[in-house]
Amino acid sequence: MVVLGAGPAGLVLANILVDRGIDCVVLERAERAHVQTRARAGFLAANTVRILDRHGLAEGLHRRGQLHNTCEFRTEDGRFRLDYSGLGQGERHTVYPQQDLVTDLLTRFLERGGQIRFGVEAVAVRDADTDRPEVDVRDADGRPGLWRARYVAGCDGRHGAARRSLPAGTVRHHRDHGVTWLGLLAEAPPSLDAVGYAVHERGFAGHMARTSEVTRYYLQCERGTPADSWSEERIWDELDLRMRSKEYGPLQRGRIAQRSVVDLESDVLEPLRHGALFLAGDAAALISPSAAKGANLAVLEAEILAGALIAALTAGDPDGLDAYSERCLTHIWRAQEFSHWMIGLLHGPTGADGESLFHNALRRSRLTSLRTSRSQQDWFAEHYVGI
Ligand code: APR
Repeated sequence: MVVLGAGPAGLVLANILVDRGIDCVVLERAERAHVQTRARAGFLAANTVRILDRHGLAEGLHRRGQLHNTCEFRTEDGRFRLDYSGLGQGERHTVYPQQDLVTDLLTRFLERGGQIRFGVEAVAVRDADTDRPEVDVRDADGRPGLWRARYVAGCDGRHGAARRSLPAGTVRHHRDHGVTWLGLLAEAPPSLDAVGYAVHERGFAGHMARTSEVTRYYLQCERGTPADSWSEERIWDELDLRMRSKEYGPLQRGRIAQRSVVDLESDVLEPLRHGALFLAGDAAALISPSAAKGANLAVLEAEILAGALIAALTAGDPDGLDAYSERCLTHIWRAQEFSHWMIGLLHGPTGADGESLFHNALRRSRLTSLRTSRSQQDWFAEHYVGI
């Protein structure tokens, strides 16, 4: 078994396989230090924690993670909070920086005798339509290599070799949501005891705690904005403005340690299986960060794929592998639908033409429903925390 990529999808999959005695190697393009420090997501759904618990991978998040159960909306019509632990299924998020989760997963994999090769980039997956697929690789010095396995799991993200190796008939559903976020990591304590969503005529602003000293902020910006074009002062002033700090209290400022610009887009590949090659995580489908679903989908797909591979490799039962794509796509499209709804909720078009005014009126009505209707709040909680 060869797993491409040491992110949440690849490492959860590899841990479950090696724990069941399946011979498995992970090929990871980056060096170990980079993999363990790359700040990405940090919002784990309750089901994700259950999956990690089931496979002995949740010790770190239980020790250092923080439970979260409230989100706060700040809009032109006022502020309201939803304590989603009292809504829907009554579940909560665990805030745990992804680099810490990936470090835990990697440590556990190595403790279990897992094999990983850092600095090895997969170039192509060949002969996936046979039972002897091959993976062409290149090491950090550019030296070519070859890996053979019974199955290959493409967990190498949206730009990885697995996607490049798909046959022509693969369908790619793609949507550019037309929204761009400046993603910021501030060395500042969280300013709210909730996830903050600010809907403002100048654009969206978001606040998500990462740890007690680090906070993730998002600022909607023009498409094409260079990540380093805003001064720190302009960033904090704009965040204060959009989050209505004058009314609700100042934001705790600090150094902006990391910046990135992300165009919100989504895509889904169909099917997620090509013979002996299976896609999971971002390699299977990219989801916008609006509802923090990416890493949670990656973990879910990894467990589904692991179960199917174990049945096939230890009991000769192919049913799980045959059903893998359809089963994951059901979860993916449900997450995509909610993420798309969130984008519509949080972003008003900045134009003043009839279409934009109509869209803005819809957006305000959605927020009013969310503020006033218990059934809408239950629906929101179930999808926001669920996966
Ligand atoms: N060969 C080997 N490794 C590769 C290659 C390649 N050709 N291309 C990419 N990789 C590695 C990357 O270095 C990364 O470590 O694959 C890994 C992919 O990890 P992620 O991008 O984290 O993807 P995934 O595991 O699918 O998790 C998806 O987690 O990162 C968050 O929220 C984010 O939605 C995303 C989710």
